[in-house]
Amino acid sequence: MFTTRSPETTLDPVVDHPRITVLGVGYLGATHAVCMAALGFDVLGVDVDQEKIDELTSGHVPFFEPGLQEQLSEMLHAGRLAFTTDFDQAVRFGDVHFICVGTPQSIDSNAADLTFVERAFEALASRAHRKALLVGKSTVPIGTAERLTAMVTARAPIGDALELAWNPEFLREGFAVDDTLHPDRLVFGVASGWAERQLRAVYAPILRRGTPLVVADLATAELVKVAANSFLATKISYINAMAEVCEATGADVDVLAEALSYDERIGGRFLKPGLGFGGGCLPKDLRAFAHRAEELGVGRAVAFLHEIDDINTRRRLRFVDLVRDLAGGDLQGARVAALGAAFKPNSDDVRDAPALDVARMLALEGAIVVVYDPEANENAHRTYPDLDYAGSLREAVTDADVVALLTEWEEFGRADPDEIGALVNRRRIVDGRHALDAVAYREAGWTFRALGQPAGAGHVAPYEAEPVT
Ligand code: UDX
Repeated sequence: MFTTRSPETTLDPVVDHPRITVLGVGYLGATHAVCMAALGFDVLGVDVDQEKIDELTSGHVPFFEPGLQEQLSEMLHAGRLAFTTDFDQAVRFGDVHFICVGTPQSIDSNAADLTFVERAFEALASRAHRKALLVGKSTVPIGTAERLTAMVTARAPIGDALELAWNPEFLREGFAVDDTLHPDRLVFGVASGWAERQLRAVYAPILRRGTPLVVADLATAELVKVAANSFLATKISYINAMAEVCEATGADVDVLAEALSYDERIGGRFLKPGLGFGGGCLPKDLRAFAHRAEELGVGRAVAFLHEIDDINTRRRLRFVDLVRDLAGGDLQGARVAALGAAFKPNSDDVRDAPALDVARMLALEGAIVVVYDPEANENAHRTYPDLDYAGSLREAVTDADVVALLTEWEEFGRADPDEIGALVNRRRIVDGRHALDAVAYREAGWTFRALGQPAGAGHVAPYEAEPVT
């Protein structure tokens, strides 16, 4: 267990059962608000987007996240959760304010765009007339919390009685509720003993279960998040780099990954080769971290992160090569069934999704791409309206010259190679996620290819030493 390092303590009393506001009720904030209510707190969710607030107030989660819908209805019904666009109400209500707004990649650089974070802190600070704790949860460049502390103190009518802490989250899409209610660790970045004690009061129900707590300074807490995501990205790109080596040597990356995974020091998680990582966190956090490190004069220390990003992008290009090969060397006019659009299964998120990027590249080479994703068709269509979208797996594969498995939804793994074989124009498939039973497909007369595997390789059952997530 880590030792708790408490900064100097102040005598201010903590609020034992604080009233909580959550600013920014997107994916992270909505989940956090609902889960804080589930832990027994009175919670007010705040956002500038009236439509989002209306949807949540009416009990509807505006994105796909297993389990969240039920919890939201339950908490609204219990009267512990409400939503508003009124910041004055938020400041009057909250003892602890969690800031969960987005930090997307800037349009013109790899840096994180902090506009929303700055606005949120400013909106709270300028209205603060009583002691409260502002807790940043958004992923930000190192040094942001210190800068915001100075701004908040200068702007707040009560000055430094308005304190700031950083409390990174590690939740995964698809497991967000469980990750929030049962985190593997908590990290508190604090500048005073009062802030630490106030956060301990908030997380008391989780800490009582013995969940490890790391108390840190603000900069370390900021760094934990980007360091963790960079490490995960590095692990994925490592096995995908090995896939490139396998492709040059005839070795099989699935067998390699399995052999590595039994070494407990390495472990099998995040060692699944394929199309690589995407989503709203890993790619942008990696880039923002490298950018910030360069600003701080330590760019060389994390220069390898650029290569991690490049390895990840190369997988998509290599996948397109495989599809082109199976289409006879030219994609012009070839019908390709793109199975999956979301960046991973159990999500409707298409931000930086390898699947959708591949579909786009195939279409650019003249392929007629028909996309089917069990949950993400709508978001994908909004991003790339020019691609064709199918309402079912059967519809997507009908008359396909090549099938491209891009996101490993369970539905695709369950599909019967003979049944879908009867619908396609040619039995040719590329498995971008090492999720299918290669032997079953070959036995059903399919030409089966996967990244990092020689043409005839593949397992009876896909490698699954440990779950991916
Ligand atoms: C990630 C972190 O896991 C989470 O802790 C953090 O809070 C937010 O970012 P998430 O973006 O939900 O979570 O996705 P994750 O499950 O980590 O997957 C990221 C990407 O990596 C997906 O595109 C997935 O398909 C890919 N991946 C994951 C692999 O290609 N191989 C693996 O072995 C694991």
